[in-house]
Amino acid sequence: MLSDTSAALSFLRSREGLQNEKHLYLFDRSMLHSKLQELRDAFPKAVKHCVAIKTQNAPEVLTEIASAGFGLEAASMEEVELAIHAGVPAHKIVFDSPVKTMEEIMRCEEAYPGIMLNANSLAELHRMKDLKSIAIGLRLNPQTQATTHPLLQTSGRSSKFGVPMADAASLLTLLGEVPRLDALHVHVGSSIAKVKGMVAGVKQVYDFAQRVNVERRKNGRPMITKLDIGGGLAPEKRGGVCLREYVSSLNAEIPSLFKDFEIVTEFGQYIHYECGTYISRIEYVSEDFIYVHGGADLFLRKVYSGLELPFVYAVTTGQLELKADRRHRYSIAGPLCFEGDVLDRAVPMPVCEPGDYLFISDVGANTVSMWSGHCSRERVKVVLF
Ligand SMILES: Cc1ncc(COP(=O)(O)O)c(C=O)c1O
Repeated sequence: MLSDTSAALSFLRSREGLQNEKHLYLFDRSMLHSKLQELRDAFPKAVKHCVAIKTQNAPEVLTEIASAGFGLEAASMEEVELAIHAGVPAHKIVFDSPVKTMEEIMRCEEAYPGIMLNANSLAELHRMKDLKSIAIGLRLNPQTQATTHPLLQTSGRSSKFGVPMADAASLLTLLGEVPRLDALHVHVGSSIAKVKGMVAGVKQVYDFAQRVNVERRKNGRPMITKLDIGGGLAPEKRGGVCLREYVSSLNAEIPSLFKDFEIVTEFGQYIHYECGTYISRIEYVSEDFIYVHGGADLFLRKVYSGLELPFVYAVTTGQLELKADRRHRYSIAGPLCFEGDVLDRAVPMPVCEPGDYLFISDVGANTVSMWSGHCSRERVKVVLF
């Protein structure tokens, strides 16, 4: 599909191809900024947006996000350090991981005052209770139904994420008494096209935060002031609604959400999906297969997960002329010594020759950041254009 590859193609033409690279991963800076602007415009001004690093962790991209004034959401201590290196001030970093060590918590407390840590469990909250310089959040599982693939659903009955809200009464008592609790956090899953489940999760946690605050006021404890509503929206190209529509639904269901709390978001895929294009030289061609340099090492979700990820392919000659017909069918084989390393089977394509290029568009999310070391291959080079 020409429209998806046109920006990457013009950039490659301007730099005379892949030069010495057998493959490249291009990241579209202007698309990133337009998505960030969309995020800024969709929500009220005061909302703090922390883009999820796990979705795209290329340092050049993180620096770009930081320089536009956005925050970052870290899923590990290593991602906290990536965010700091990118130039994000600690108060715009959220650290979510279900397994934070005491050492990591203390490093945040000492080195990064103002950072927010969302505890995943009451045991983790207990580890943080006496700390002074970090903002303390607690992730709740509202146990509402969000429509997405089971691998990406974090609000089910038995999710490993968050404190289940089933026993709300005893949770209310407990949270009414803990010395410090700055935020409640909810993220019901990823790749969600229908926002109803997302909004229901936020509403449940919003209502609960109000009730916890009544208890805290009675007990003379400081109030919960922030709600971190996570990310999770599927990109429009994958059937999702636009951010503006999501915010309208939030406003319709929870009219004073943005008035009563400081809101934090953690979108990932919605921002990055359209920004990435992968290009590989087609190294070999047989009757049934084309062999390229990126496979299950870069596209783990595509190959291993069973998630439905429809890829959009285009082929050019070695001189970057688009081959537009679809007269042949090829399976697309990656470079790994593993029979399952095939991206798609029997895809209608032009007749390919060794030295042509394969383009895969809309691969900005959950690709580079999931790189696998299988077969010890060198990471693909990321170029921002
Ligand atoms: C806690 C948390 N926040 C944000 C995200 C980003 O989700 P998405 O890329 O679906 O917006 C994830 C994804 O796994 C997550 O686990």
